[in-house]
Amino acid sequence: MPNHNVIRNRQSTTSPVDLAQNGAELAGLTAELAPLYGDQSAVQAERYVDALTQFSAFAGPGPAWLFRAPGRVNLIGEHTDYNNGFVMPIALDRDILLVVRPRRDRTVRLANIEPEFEQSAFTVSEEIPQASPGHWSNYVRGAAQMIARLAPDAFTGMDCLAVGAAPLGLARGSGLSSSSALTVSATLALAHFAGLNLPPEQFVQICSDAEWYVGTRGGIMDQFISLLARRDHALFLDCRPDVNGQYATRHVPLPAAYQILIADSGVHHSNVRGEYNKRVASCRIGVASLRRKHPGITHLRDVHSIPWGELAPSLPEQIGAVKAATSGLLDTDIPGLEPADVLHVRACCRHVWHENHRVEQALAALDSGDIAAVGALLQAAHASARDDYAISTPEIETLVASASAAPGVVGARLTGAGWGGCVLVLVRQEEAVHAAGVIQNSFLSAHGRVPTIFPCRTGAAAGLVATVDA
Ligand code: GLA
Repeated sequence: MPNHNVIRNRQSTTSPVDLAQNGAELAGLTAELAPLYGDQSAVQAERYVDALTQFSAFAGPGPAWLFRAPGRVNLIGEHTDYNNGFVMPIALDRDILLVVRPRRDRTVRLANIEPEFEQSAFTVSEEIPQASPGHWSNYVRGAAQMIARLAPDAFTGMDCLAVGAAPLGLARGSGLSSSSALTVSATLALAHFAGLNLPPEQFVQICSDAEWYVGTRGGIMDQFISLLARRDHALFLDCRPDVNGQYATRHVPLPAAYQILIADSGVHHSNVRGEYNKRVASCRIGVASLRRKHPGITHLRDVHSIPWGELAPSLPEQIGAVKAATSGLLDTDIPGLEPADVLHVRACCRHVWHENHRVEQALAALDSGDIAAVGALLQAAHASARDDYAISTPEIETLVASASAAPGVVGARLTGAGWGGCVLVLVRQEEAVHAAGVIQNSFLSAHGRVPTIFPCRTGAAAGLVATVDA
């Protein structure tokens, strides 16, 4: 299991309810949360206390374990992770908090502090049926199934309250990886109670498998940054494992004189999974096409050092899903892929090939303090995501265009999977507030509403925060 941010075991004699009523405890909790949340720890302490109170109402008084996992914003490296490429995400101080107590009857009971996410319960087994498609509990079901397969006898069950979005956490569909944060925190809890001590690579794989259970053929970026986050740093991650199954990572300090703003388009397309999986399929067809000339490759990353001009002619401009399957270019089942789908293979591969190079260049530019170069790479990454990967929306375009013209901004791009979600804006510290106002005004003129923009405060790695004994 990854290094936990175990602040310490709270050997408190107060129950969660008492804790909520006790100002001294609140102050103590604030101090304990400081390494995780910095100057936000007092607000977070109130959130934790509220969570404990609600957990008591849900599960009754008694001991509780607090696990958390941060969401992320991706600086650069979009749709490269499932191609074994490079990414550079940053963990946010916005996280999913789980308040948990183990059970002995192989039942998981789930509640969510946000009333729109209904309660759910399931029996733990190695084959857990999904709730309805899109149901939030599926991420926990996926995690429980994976842990049950690893430790069929050890695993028991749990009562669990999830504390996500408003006002401090992650909104679903904002592209800040709340789903992975939920999966990671649930897997942490389940592995903990099953007595499993997993290395990060295996832990990440389990979380990724849990998300495949839900249906998205995603990569490993979100899970890795959640586990390995360091405040004030991005994480450079090479998503291609070495022969021992290890991944190369490097924590990269963020430039102190600059601020990252996150502008939420407020748009979340409902068919992200289908569109996402179409891009995954396009990349796989690209690999299968290239394999004719480059036998043995398994991912687009494997042709990273071959000039794009040499690769492009081997890639079909576009191909229908049925033809791809019957001609042996797509041999795996991809959920959500329809027979009528047309896959834009060459453009997708062009994005991935160039994006990997951009991540390497951004790393070098950050190392040398060349922030203007970082900004130019963000702009280029956005153009590629829009034109080649086709994942932008009108609202995202408004945000990027207005940010690019705002004072002090060195670069802006769509961040996350796409089809809505958020834009990342890199701006000189002293002009961040002004730039945010300019972006909001432009968006208001174009779309009739003011978008939420907030500064990216970095977060700490996922882990067990504390236990509270009754
Ligand atoms: C989602 C997936 C990630 C990654 C991004 C796009 O967040 O979960 O694995 O593919 O999209 O970069």
